[in-house]
Amino acid sequence: MKLFATSLLAALLALPAMSSFAAGEAAPADAGQAHAAPAVAAAAPAMAAKPDLVKGEASFTAVCAACHGADGNSGTPAYPKLSQQHPEYLVKQLQEYKAGKRKNAIMQGFAATLSDADMKNVAYWATSKQAKPGFSKEKELVTLGERIYRGGISDRQIPACAGCHSPTGRGIPSQYPRLSGQHSEYTAAQLTYFRDGTRSNSLQMTQVAAKLNDKEIRAVADYIAGLR
Ligand code: HEC
Ligand code: HEC
Repeated sequence: MKLFATSLLAALLALPAMSSFAAGEAAPADAGQAHAAPAVAAAAPAMAAKPDLVKGEASFTAVCAACHGADGNSGTPAYPKLSQQHPEYLVKQLQEYKAGKRKNAIMQGFAATLSDADMKNVAYWATSKQAKPGFSKEKELVTLGERIYRGGISDRQIPACAGCHSPTGRGIPSQYPRLSGQHSEYTAAQLTYFRDGTRSNSLQMTQVAAKLNDKEIRAVADYIAGLR
């Protein structure tokens, strides 16, 4: 039986390190839903079907919420906010973690337990949630960050982020992900990963990040955190 909840449970059991995370934010009251859901689910055809938001919520609450927050608004800088992201972008990331095209030990483990339908369900549910705004923290860097975001650095062929991710950072569905309000630590880490090749699932972003130095990454990531 390919029961979603069962595989998620298996994933949790197989990753003992997770239990410390789960203790924090997981909602035990809702976790029970995940056990009830699959019986109904087994009959539904997987791929062509519309996303099942009820199943998406149950799985998200049982597994993903521990790190990404109950409503996808992660409160932990290392874990990205997923709320209000474009669902197609999240599905792409989950598929690429599963395929090993985007490398991260934690997420590759979780994505491996998800079918295409599961990915769609959790992605559409998480992205249906309202994103909470974030804030810039580094006052001295914000002008530099804004300049890069809006105008790029033309003499070094660094393009304006706004050109693809939109002036408000909402992105353009479904091609360019939403960035606004994201934790600056996460954004800076991803830019560094694109630059050093750790994250190699987007040629466009590899080219953008290749020319950014550490200070510029910090500045633009901090600006993005406060963007709305
Ligand atoms: C133990 C903590 C943890 C759990 C539980 C977890 N994640 Fe993650 N997630 C992370 C981390 C850390 C990253 C950033 C990884 C990287 O740098 O690529 C991430 C990244 C992601 C991304 C990429 C986001 C982006 O903006 O590119 C998606 C999508 C995602 N997680 C979905 C999920 C889903 C769905 C679940 C539940 C099935 C889940 N995660 C469970 C820690 C977690
Ligand atoms: C030519 C278009 C383009 C430009 C210009 C661009 N990006 Fe991107 N960016 C993308 C695409 C496409 C993705 C999605 C990559 C994927 O599918 O994994 C992305 C993804 C990202 C991500 C990962 C988001 C996440 O949730 O993990 C970050 C961070 C990012 N871009 C920051 C920037 C910054 C900062 C700039 C400006 C310095 C910039 N981008 C300029 C196209 C662009």
